[in-house]
Amino acid sequence: MRARTRTVLLGAGALGAGALWWRAHPSACPYGQRFWVEAPHPLITRERLREALDPQPGQTALEVGPGTGYYSLATARLLEPGGTLHVLDVQQRMLDHTMRRAREAGVVNIEPRRGDATSLPYPDATFDAAYLVAVLGEVPEQDVALRELARVLKPGGRLVVGELLGDPHMVTTQALRARAPGAGLRFARRVGPPFGYFAVLGKAAAA
Ligand SMILES: C[S@@+](CC[C@H](N)C(=O)[O-])C[C@H]1O[C@@H](n2cnc3c(N)ncnc32)[C@H](O)[C@@H]1O
Repeated sequence: MRARTRTVLLGAGALGAGALWWRAHPSACPYGQRFWVEAPHPLITRERLREALDPQPGQTALEVGPGTGYYSLATARLLEPGGTLHVLDVQQRMLDHTMRRAREAGVVNIEPRRGDATSLPYPDATFDAAYLVAVLGEVPEQDVALRELARVLKPGGRLVVGELLGDPHMVTTQALRARAPGAGLRFARRVGPPFGYFAVLGKAAAA
């Protein structure tokens, strides 16, 4: 085998092994690697999130894992006038980055809070809508996070989960469909293709 071919094969093998390792060890994308989240998000666009989430003026929404705020500013604007977007992240530096961008853009209705998806610091039935994009797969206890998200949604509220192929932590729609009922959520529909989608899940309205 020629040296160049061997180098390419070794590189591909190392990349594959790295991706498998990341998949088996869920953890938050470090702030130092934020270039991944600042790059354009093909398929899971802001416009598609809007279609899936359907945010309305005056509503209260939650974004878990905003990263550097790729979706936060646009979503917060859609909640105006009178609505608020709460953003929660395990990393303070991600929140600081998002809030800096919001200040620069003149967006004033974002409330940051540091915390973990598996233990949300909000009362039951707080939010009309919640979303997380490229986040669920980074959480080691996904079932706990989904239960927490269902808890903080108002009856009839909606949860949107966005995922993109290429992310080593991608959660497939099949996996999400399987987990949803255990968290008290109903998989309603998918916006976008299976390899870059927003899933809309509903919380059953109170009887
Ligand atoms: C891959 S980034 C995605 C950022 C953004 N949603 C986007 O698509 O551009 C994942 C984000 O989720 C946050 N995160 C990971 N695990 C978390 C957890 N257990 N609770 C809250 N945030 C978490 C990370 O700190 C990071 O900001």
